[in-house]
Amino acid sequence: MIVVTAAGGQTGAAVVRKLRERGEQVRAVVARRGPRPDLAALGAEVVLGELTQPLPWAKLLDGADAFHLIWPHADPDEAEGAGALFAEARRAGVGRIVYHSVLHPQARVMPHHAAKDRAEESLESAGVPWRVLRPCTYAQTLDASLDEVARTGVLRSYWGVRTAQSLVDVEDVAAAAAVLLTEDGLDGGTFEAAGPEPLTAPRIAELMGERLGREVVADDVIPAGEQPTAYAARCRRAMFDHHREHGFVGSPRVLAALLGRSPRSYAEHLAELPLPVSG
Ligand SMILES: NC(=O)c1ccc[n+]([C@@H]2O[C@H](COP(=O)([O-])OP(=O)(O)OC[C@H]3O[C@@H](n4cnc5c(N)ncnc54)[C@H](OP(=O)(O)O)[C@@H]3O)[C@@H](O)[C@H]2O)c1
Repeated sequence: MIVVTAAGGQTGAAVVRKLRERGEQVRAVVARRGPRPDLAALGAEVVLGELTQPLPWAKLLDGADAFHLIWPHADPDEAEGAGALFAEARRAGVGRIVYHSVLHPQARVMPHHAAKDRAEESLESAGVPWRVLRPCTYAQTLDASLDEVARTGVLRSYWGVRTAQSLVDVEDVAAAAAVLLTEDGLDGGTFEAAGPEPLTAPRIAELMGERLGREVVADDVIPAGEQPTAYAARCRRAMFDHHREHGFVGSPRVLAALLGRSPRSYAEHLAELPLPVSG
């Protein structure tokens, strides 16, 4: 049995699905009360658990062969909380931990990367065999902008128009997580999950244009105003500033090796998205 946290989110739900496709039993930890028909339909055991609250982890992790720790995005408690949960996993006798990190956690200028870097460090002393997955930005992150792009012909880019990102499909990330959670011979490894090509915002706009059948251009939206103080907003600003300056590019080879095939391209992802209804 495999325990997955933040299981109702974009990453978690995809990981649960991939594990169930492999015939694994899954305990899906969700934060929000209420029915979870999607997870239940997959045949996962759904349990309630706020990662930032004291929880009966011994019970939640009892009998787990593997534990996939996905922490909610840009949460200030990640570094401390992850370390505490790794210790809980050791006490519960969990067989292996897979920690959901990010590409380039050592880019500590971004607070959420620094938190993941510290969490990775605490794995060393966890006393449980571990593997780390380091995804680049998901291709799906841009899906919400497609309606606006279809209407206006403009892709607003908060990370400029010069640097590139190796957008990766969350389905590929989840498939890689399922490999790390279930297969032998991967202990102590850190595995990057990057898409097959570096894409600038103008290139993404071009690909969106091809899919939408209209011209699309990328517009450089430079963040205005003071540095934000709230943690999540600070992470977001630092991330856009960093990506504007350095991009966010990784090699696809590690992911290809885990999947046994090339990672999906952004064009392949776009081809499967329903076209926005014009109106
Ligand atoms: N998105 C990307 O491009 C990307 C790239 C690389 C790495 N990552 C990393 O991947 C992880 C997941 O990101 P995501 O985009 O999949 O997140 P997401 O879709 O926003 O999912 C977050 C989930 O976390 C749950 N959650 C929120 N607060 C919680 C709490 N206090 N305790 C327990 N669960 C809580 C929510 O649960 P409920 O549904 O139950 O409310 C939600 O389903 C993050 O660590 C992120 O940094 C993301």
